[in-house]
Amino acid sequence: MSRPTPADDLKSIPRHIAIIMDGNGRWAKERGQMRTSGHRKGAESVRQVVEGCSELGVEYLTLYAFSSENWKRPKVEVAALMKLLQKFLRDETPTMMQNNVRLQAIGRLHDLPEACQAELHQAVQTTATNTGMTLILALSYGGREEIIDGIKSLIESVEKGHLDKAMIDGDVFGKHLYTRYYPDPDLLIRTSGEMRLSNFLLWQVSYTEFYVTQKLWPDFGKEELREAIRAYGNRHRRFGGVA
Ligand code: FPP
Repeated sequence: MSRPTPADDLKSIPRHIAIIMDGNGRWAKERGQMRTSGHRKGAESVRQVVEGCSELGVEYLTLYAFSSENWKRPKVEVAALMKLLQKFLRDETPTMMQNNVRLQAIGRLHDLPEACQAELHQAVQTTATNTGMTLILALSYGGREEIIDGIKSLIESVEKGHLDKAMIDGDVFGKHLYTRYYPDPDLLIRTSGEMRLSNFLLWQVSYTEFYVTQKLWPDFGKEELREAIRAYGNRHRRFGGVA
């Protein structure tokens, strides 16, 4: 994909942005509403941020939409999130087509309800040949689970004689992770002020720049996205070396 030059006030655009979308519940609570209404408003932020990233020339956007641990939430909330995901996929596929966005998903996708898997498969297939931004939804995703699945896949390759144990290094291991097709994130955004990784992309964020904002996810939109990218532009990345 050809990348537009950064907008005047943005020094550089991260190639890959990953986001921990947090604070939907608190947003709803502050308004005396049900948690699910926070998630609904959160889905609007998703729409805004996907559009914003695509307009700015971000190549990959990974959104932590449902973690392995989120299955522990009350059944009604899990069901509402799954319904919302299906609605999002149905409603947004035409927009993704218009904006040339390719949809992908990472996580233990087979754990999702069948209707959700079907809708996801449909949206991924429909957008598969788009050449603009890649939107990656992390669903039933956990970083530790991904590493465990990666180790199992490595062992299988060695046992089948496809891989020599002596050849295993970070690059080889990376090829056995769900994220093998994508570069590591340059910028990780977390909303709602929490300073935790919460089992997100544990392997991939070794040299990622972190940006934490107090804004709750439903209040995060294009302007807040620009603010995060502006902060990223002022960082000095050394990857363990010297400036
Ligand atoms: C965290 O807020 C958010 C989630 C667990 C789910 C994220 C879901 C969305 C943004 C909406 C739907 C997504 C898509 C892709 C359509 P929280 O509930 O943990 O908030 P809290 O910490 O304030 O309780």
